[in-house]
Amino acid sequence: MRVLVLHGPNLGLLGLREPSIYGTEGLAEIDGRLTALAAELGIEVECRQSNHEGVLLDWIAEAAPQPNGAPRRFDALVINPGAYTHTSIALRDAVSAVGVPAVEVHLSNVQAREKFRRRSWLAPVCVGTVAGFGPDSYALGLRAVVGYERARAAK
Ligand code: DQA
Repeated sequence: MRVLVLHGPNLGLLGLREPSIYGTEGLAEIDGRLTALAAELGIEVECRQSNHEGVLLDWIAEAAPQPNGAPRRFDALVINPGAYTHTSIALRDAVSAVGVPAVEVHLSNVQAREKFRRRSWLAPVCVGTVAGFGPDSYALGLRAVVGYERARAAK
């Protein structure tokens, strides 16, 4: 199983950005932890970050069904869409279009913050959301999507 982990806008600044909200761990450390967890789970993970909505859309499209029955390049998604969570119908449509299980993750508890963060356009097309556990949100999200996809494939 190959899982694509996507970090959206401003997440390249983790460790420096508002540490009281997002903590002091940088993205490289988070990705390192996810790579170690992937080995433990017996899967492959690829982690990418972009500030650009269109780039994120193109990356999500890599999980789409391939022509002539070739295997998909990714079997599941873990995505922290950053502020695009609250604005991007295009990201929602992309996740919905590719048809692989996706888990939305947030470092902070978005429900406990400003009102505008309470709405996610992506949540309805994801199998679930993990928010509020700092970098552990990603690890929990990865475990969850792997468990979900394994159970689905075993049916
Ligand atoms: C975030 C929450 C978003 O509301 C915010 O815009 C971010 C980070 C989080 O991980 O807590 O950029 O996705």
